[in-house]
Formats: sequence, structure tokens, C-alpha cells
Amino acid sequence: MNWIKTVKALAVLSVFGGFFFPALAQSETPSLDFIRERTYFFIRQNLQHSQIRPGAVIASPAQYEPNYFHHWTRDAGLTMHTVISHEFRASQMPSFAPWAEFEFAAQNTAHEYGVGLGEPIFEVDGSLYSQPWGRPQNDGPAIRALTMIQGFANLEQLGQNPGADLRQAIAADLEYTANHINSQGFDLWEEVRGLHFFTGLLQWKALKRGTAWARQQGLDSLAQLLESRQGPLLTQLENHLEPTQNRWQVTVQQTAGWGHKISGLDVSVLLAYLYFQEEAPFHLEDPRLANTVRMLEERFAEIYPISAAFPTLPPAIGRYPEDVYDGHGFSGGNPWFLATAAVGEYHCRLARKHLPSHRRDFDAREFSVASFVNRLSPFAVQPVTTSLLRANHELARGRAFVQRVFLHAGEDMNMSEQFNRSTGFRQGAHSLTWSFSALYRAAAACDLNYELSSLSK
Ligand code: NOJ
Ligand code: NOJ
Repeated sequence: MNWIKTVKALAVLSVFGGFFFPALAQSETPSLDFIRERTYFFIRQNLQHSQIRPGAVIASPAQYEPNYFHHWTRDAGLTMHTVISHEFRASQMPSFAPWAEFEFAAQNTAHEYGVGLGEPIFEVDGSLYSQPWGRPQNDGPAIRALTMIQGFANLEQLGQNPGADLRQAIAADLEYTANHINSQGFDLWEEVRGLHFFTGLLQWKALKRGTAWARQQGLDSLAQLLESRQGPLLTQLENHLEPTQNRWQVTVQQTAGWGHKISGLDVSVLLAYLYFQEEAPFHLEDPRLANTVRMLEERFAEIYPISAAFPTLPPAIGRYPEDVYDGHGFSGGNPWFLATAAVGEYHCRLARKHLPSHRRDFDAREFSVASFVNRLSPFAVQPVTTSLLRANHELARGRAFVQRVFLHAGEDMNMSEQFNRSTGFRQGAHSLTWSFSALYRAAAACDLNYELSSLSK
């Protein structure tokens, strides 16, 4: 298989090129199926941690420098979306109900003691995280609602009654979301107070999907409220446009927090496009997204030495160019597993869009543009060749990002939050739940035999 050969070649390069990365040098990229199974396994291990209340999703088992042994609404909601799409394929969702029950309780706790549904973190027993923190974070309710709506639909399809609690929890998050568009809060990286593209686009997806869900449930006044907020939110999102480069600016109207994010470039823009359903006008082919991702790839190729150390692989991707958080202190930013995997997912999903629909099932390892083109009439050749070439290019690029992740993940694939910008070794909170979820998604997107719809809605 080609990509195994490539990694072997890289291993040789890494020794003779003056770099020596012992763990990295032995890596062989396993199959995409195997990556999905392995990352799901690690997520389940975190969900089954012995010291937590069932349903809590620890960000990581790390309890010291840094202490990530808490339940973040965002990490939990995003990961559970991956988990239920995996479990639903086996016609049962053992992880869903405990998480949903944990979240109902958390919603009530947040009302009684916190800032409301925008409370970002809970302790693993469900109590409020009482330390000073960047509050509120308004992406949480939108993410939680979107995952719950998906779980709700899955349960119905499995012939099970989703229950009144779940319905009530979804309605509460949707209502909160409708009332907090255009509302100041902290970003997903918990550093800056303002209006954030990530938060806004997830709110947009929640308003859209939520309107349809509320209507279906006969919740007409909720549906009307959600619909009425769509216009203003779209205007707000469009305010993030950086017009000279036709790309997105991560934060506008900043009122507090760190002032070092000069470029406005941030991988969270891409995350928002990737997670949950695609919702017009924010499709993955959006040139404003393409420009944002291209600039991120270019910047990160320059600033992280580990990118250049493996020049045949695409760059290692971090959160944003000015980042200084090293996973515990502030010695300098590093590439993140979840960010690098996301760029891989992006390219592979673009590849799928360029494949003619009747070729979606083909196996790219046996891909040959020439053999396919030969079977077409001469008139069809031109446009089809162009889109196949584009598909081929994007798929190869996406898979190369997965290779990049695997190279730094280590052979056991037990990823942390970051990997060191110079040595390439794992750094920051170990066994980070969100890293597994992100790599799972990339492996699914890059496997053309995998039906993606369950992950992108
Ligand atoms: C912890 C946050 O979770 C992380 O995203 C942030 O960079 C640091 N604190 C610094 O504020
Ligand atoms: C720091 C990240 O910046 C934030 O997005 C995340 O929620 C927490 N770590 C927990 O993983």
C-alpha cells in the first residue's frame, strides 16, 4: 500500500536527514477502519473511567498539570456526536442515555448556581465547576442541542421513545441559543470575550436544525422564535468577513481577554464548518473557507519546525498562529491533534464532493484516472477528468494529514492534546477525548467506503 511505503521512506529520511525521531521512525499507518475502532476504544475508556458519574465525559484523565479531569459541555457534545454515529451503526447507543441524563442535571445546576446554560465546565460528579473561568461560552448549548437532536432522531429510528426529558432539554438549549445570538461570550479556546465565528456558525446550525425539529414536535412558538433569529445571526456571521482576503476573521467586537490574536486566523472556523450538518450558505466549498484554510496551512508550515522536518507530509496545524499555550503553561504554542485531523477531514470531504456520485464507492487505493476516463465517451472526458483529478488531489492531501497525525500520535495512537512544535512528541493533557473524536472523523471522511451522513448531520 502506497501510504505505508511513504511512511517507511519518511522513517529513513528522518534518520539520514539529520533528524532522529525514534518513535516516529517506526510508524506504519494502519487502515482507516482500524483507526476508527481504536479511537472509539479510547473514547469509551474515558467514558468508563471509574471515578466519574456515569454520563460525564472527561476532557482527559489528566488530573495534574494540567487538570483536565472535568466535563466540558463542548468537548462532551462534540465527542458524543461521533460516539452516537458510531454506535448507531450497530443499532444501539449505550453511551447516549447516560450522557443525556448527565446533561439534564447539568442544565439545572447551571440555572441554580451558574451563569445559566452557557456554563462551560462541570465537575465529574455533575456539580458546578466553581473556579473563576471564561464565562459564558455560548457554543455549548448549540452543540449540546445538535447532538441531542441527532440522538433523538436515532432513537426514533430504532423504535425507542426518546422521552420527555430529552425533549425538554433540547428545547431549553434551543431557546437559550435563540436568545444569545449576538451576545458577548468567551470563545471555544476560553481566552477571548467577543463574538466568535465558531460560536455563531454552530448557533446557526442549531437554529436551522432546531426550527425543523421544533416544528416536527408541534412546538410552534419555539419554531417561530428560532426562525426569527436566523436573519440577524446571518448578518452577524457575515460581519466576520475579512474582505481584502475574502476569508473569515475569528472574532469581532472583542471586549476582553487576550489581545495577541492579530491575524484573526483560527482553525476553529474550519471546525465550525465541519461539525454537524452543512448549512447554506456555509458549504465546505465556500471560497471564504478555502482561503482561511490555505492561509492557516501556509502560516503553520512556517512557524512549526516539525512541519519542515517531514517535508513530504503536509504541515502540522495548531489553533491559531499567535497561540502561546503549551498544554500547561505558556512557553509557546504547538500543533494540536484535533486541528491537524480536521484539515485532513476537510480535504477528504472536498474529495467526495468532486467525485461523480456513482463513483463514491470506489476504493481510492486502486484509483486510476486513466482507467476511468478510458471508459467514458470523448465528450464527457473533459469535465469529468477535471473533477476526478481534483478529487484525487484532495483525497491524497487529506490522507496525508491523517498520516501526519499518526506519525505524532505514536504507535498506540493514544493522543494527547498537542504535539511539540520542534520534537513532534505528544504534549499537554494525555488521552484527550476530543483528539480521538477528531481523528475518528478524519478516518471516516478519508475512507470512501464509509457512508458519511451520520457524521455530518
Ligand atoms: C486553559 C484553556 O482551556 C486553554 O484553551 C487556554 O489556552 C489556557 N487556559 C490559557 O488561557
Ligand atoms: C482547552 C481548549 O482550548 C478547550 O477548547 C477545551 O474545551 C478544553 N481544553 C478541554 O479540552
